Amino acid sequence: MIRERHIIILAAGQGKRMHSTLPKVLQPLGEYTLLEHVYRAAQGLGGDGAPRISIVYGHGGEAVRSTLSHLDCAWVEQTEQLGTGHAVMQALPLLHPGETVLILYGDVPLVQAETLAAVAAAAEQGALAVLTVAMNDPTGYGRIIRAGHDSLQRIVEQKDASPDELTINEINTGIMAVAAEHLQRWLPTLENNNAQGEYYLTDIVPMAIADEIRTTIISAPSEQEVAGVNDKLQLAALERALQRSRADTLMRKGVTLRDPSRIDIRGDVDVGRDVTIDINVLLEGRVIIEDGVQIGPHCVVRDSVLRRGAVIHPNCVIEEAQVGPAATVGPYARLRPETCLGANTKVGNFVEIKKTTLGDGSKANHLAYVGDAQVGSNVNIGAGVITCNYDGANKHRTVIEDDAFIGSDCQLVAPVTVGRGATLGAGTTLTEDAPADKLTLSRTAQKTSDRWRRPVKQKR
Ligand code: UD1
Ligand code: CA
Repeated sequence: MIRERHIIILAAGQGKRMHSTLPKVLQPLGEYTLLEHVYRAAQGLGGDGAPRISIVYGHGGEAVRSTLSHLDCAWVEQTEQLGTGHAVMQALPLLHPGETVLILYGDVPLVQAETLAAVAAAAEQGALAVLTVAMNDPTGYGRIIRAGHDSLQRIVEQKDASPDELTINEINTGIMAVAAEHLQRWLPTLENNNAQGEYYLTDIVPMAIADEIRTTIISAPSEQEVAGVNDKLQLAALERALQRSRADTLMRKGVTLRDPSRIDIRGDVDVGRDVTIDINVLLEGRVIIEDGVQIGPHCVVRDSVLRRGAVIHPNCVIEEAQVGPAATVGPYARLRPETCLGANTKVGNFVEIKKTTLGDGSKANHLAYVGDAQVGSNVNIGAGVITCNYDGANKHRTVIEDDAFIGSDCQLVAPVTVGRGATLGAGTTLTEDAPADKLTLSRTAQKTSDRWRRPVKQKR
């Protein structure tokens, strides 16, 4: 029989050492809050279905619940933080007999589902399973007193430990699993007669031994996977560790990273072959990078697709955009949402494009704003061109047909259409449609004065 899994995430602690009004479990790591990382690892533990997840919250309760209202879980309030045992006790009414209960901490974000599965599996064999790790510096943690090869005698907290016990460097990660019916029997009998006056969850170890329930130690694969976050230094250290492992994943797929310590990934990245990414690039959300793409230094790319052979020069910001095959972008270009650049297009420095399709081979090389526009293929948009898309109340579209040439410093007052092959003279303010294949311009005629004299400074 496969037992249902119920994961309880403890997240009521205050996190004083963060010195932040943001509750600790809502601090960001990569693209998620700390607590959401733990939740996602828990979700990976389904076995034969979605596991039940309960989150014990307390400090900053409303903020935690509203920020994470999209999580599929039961919220259990712990109004006073009286210890880890007390926290789990709050969830007792939600447990079903027959479930395997796995206890996680909301501030241990990098724990992997495979590790948790090993802990849950040991509990499913009838044991009380505890995840431990050996630490270089175990200060502050509960120490593991082993009974035999892989079984426990007890866990002693730093503040309750003897000098001998303090030399043990194997610690309690806090992650454990056991059958619900044992917790239902043991937790109500916990006492708080210890150095901190808290109800320690760890006190269930001797209760298991008294009930002749086997105890099993599972060793975590690395210290980092079970590292907790108590302050901003530990948060930064885990961020680096997470980013480095993501950089390593990209390199294993063949991406050239000019410096793997200077890339940040906050989302999912798909990469093709022979992709090169220069320093200080931030990839966010869902990013697809096809074969041969080059991304220059200091670029931000969010929720975008970079097609085969595209080149992104330094200092570009690309959001919810598609960059066509062999297109070049930047330096210093900004592609805003719903931009779609065709093949071999060029978008140069200080060009902003929004909600616009640029057909194959078209160019906007310098200092332009193109918004709400439909631009055909092989169009040249000169320096300083602006689509005047907003009348103060509504947005209007500009259509520029194939092979048009828009001279420098034109303003296209939308809604307006430039016909196929049309040329707009430099400095034109276009308020009516420009016919195909003709030169259209709006300028006052140039004149030269013979009588004009340059003023001279008067002497006093
Ligand atoms: C606990 C363990 C210790 C272990 C360490 C690992 C006990 C008695 N001690 O120590 O053996 O080495 O974790 O980090 O279990 N929490 C609540 N409500 C509470 C108290 C805590 O939700 O009343 C939550 C916290 O938000 C946190 C987790 O439980 O996510 C651990 O709490 P913390 O105070 O850090 O545990 P320690 O006492 O340091
Ligand atoms: Ca702690």
